[in-house]
Amino acid sequence: MTHTLVYPINASHNAAGHLEIDGCDVTGLVAEFGTPLVIYEEKSIRDQCRRYMGAFREHTQDFEVIYASKAFSSVAVDQLVLEEGLSIDVSSGGEYHVAKVAGFPAGRIFFHGNNKTRDELEYVLSGGVGHVVVDSFQELALLEELVAARGEIQRVLLRITPGIEAHTHSYIQTGQIDSKFGFGLVDGVALEAMRQTLAAPHLDLVGLHAHIGSQIFRLDAFRKAIEILVGLIGQAHATFGFECRCLNVGGGLGIRYTEEDMPSSIADYAAIKVEGVREEMAARSLPMPRVLIEPGRSIVGKAGITAYRVGTIKEVPGIRTYVSVDGGMSDNIRPMLYDAHYEGMLANKAAAPADTTITVAGKHCESGDILIRDAVIARPEPGDVLVMPATGAYCYAMASNYNGSPRPAVVMVKDGRARVIIERETYGDLVAKHHPLRDEGEA
Ligand code: LLP
Repeated sequence: MTHTLVYPINASHNAAGHLEIDGCDVTGLVAEFGTPLVIYEEKSIRDQCRRYMGAFREHTQDFEVIYASKAFSSVAVDQLVLEEGLSIDVSSGGEYHVAKVAGFPAGRIFFHGNNKTRDELEYVLSGGVGHVVVDSFQELALLEELVAARGEIQRVLLRITPGIEAHTHSYIQTGQIDSKFGFGLVDGVALEAMRQTLAAPHLDLVGLHAHIGSQIFRLDAFRKAIEILVGLIGQAHATFGFECRCLNVGGGLGIRYTEEDMPSSIADYAAIKVEGVREEMAARSLPMPRVLIEPGRSIVGKAGITAYRVGTIKEVPGIRTYVSVDGGMSDNIRPMLYDAHYEGMLANKAAAPADTTITVAGKHCESGDILIRDAVIARPEPGDVLVMPATGAYCYAMASNYNGSPRPAVVMVKDGRARVIIERETYGDLVAKHHPLRDEGEA
């Protein structure tokens, strides 16, 4: 196989010259489950969880790895990360619901969001939630009111916007001053939020949180964010004796989508996060808090691939050849939204030389629905199975029904066996919540 680096760990090609993921022939999987098909390799997800747990354990005994389930929220993967000892971050009542159905204990759930609604807060409070990561003064007041009405005490973290610009696409930067998220440092806003939280009788401020962005390759921005966060902790300690028990330093580690991508390792990421916190706290003679991190993409991204069936092939002479597949922006919006780059290959011609440059187009009614520009693959023909690796994060999670597209099936493979973890939607599903203009017999 040519591009092994960006595929799940147990990808290979078999005697038939087909791509195989942990003993499952991808050509066989699409024959059984149809296309587009999202395929996750279970061992790749477990492997990443174990790398994170192992890497943090090298530096501290007091840590929590929290899976950011927005990357791919499903009952099966939530169960898997729970088995691996991770906690979970949910960004909505919906993701909370999935985590609960998966059996996540309430105490291991972190609830995020810049506009949590009253309904969502009531929902998670009634089911129980370990920590609410509070994002605004409005939310502080609302949460205090709701928790007081229940006669409980709720543990909270405050989301801080450290004023850092990470080197990533502007749509997935979140730590800069001009951000819809969190409490900024300008004009003492964050300090005031901490003061108000400490004064709220039903809220227990256990620490702070910051997430500066996603798909980040350079670790220096993470280190800088820690310096700023701990600076704030020091200030709050000096001003009103605040003691930080938990410091959640977010997610954001980038992954390899193409062979050109050079992400940092989990080991280096763990070192910078834990030792960064240790150094900064020590410099202020403050005790080491529990260190929390929230990876999403780097847990599930490389474990997933998407398989499509090749349909129309159109050559624009002297310009390019469009190879259209039976999915596109409805199952992977990332190329259109973030200018994301992917590789591709033909699963049924995995052993054939990749010698043809083509453009992979989706089937949607938009010229911009292009999945890969200038992919180099084996010579394509209608009916081939084209796969894109590294689609495990933020692809199914952001899928839509655009152009009346039922969302794909999702399978998980392990030791030569495949299990459907999310069924393919049907045309019936598309109209299941629709009502006619008028009932039969009605005028
Ligand atoms: N924690 C918080 C508060 C977050 O907002 C995020 C991601 C994470 C953790 C996980 O970050 P990760 O480890 O996955 O980088 N749809 C975009 C990515 C949006 C990320 C949103 N927040 C994409 O497809 O690239």
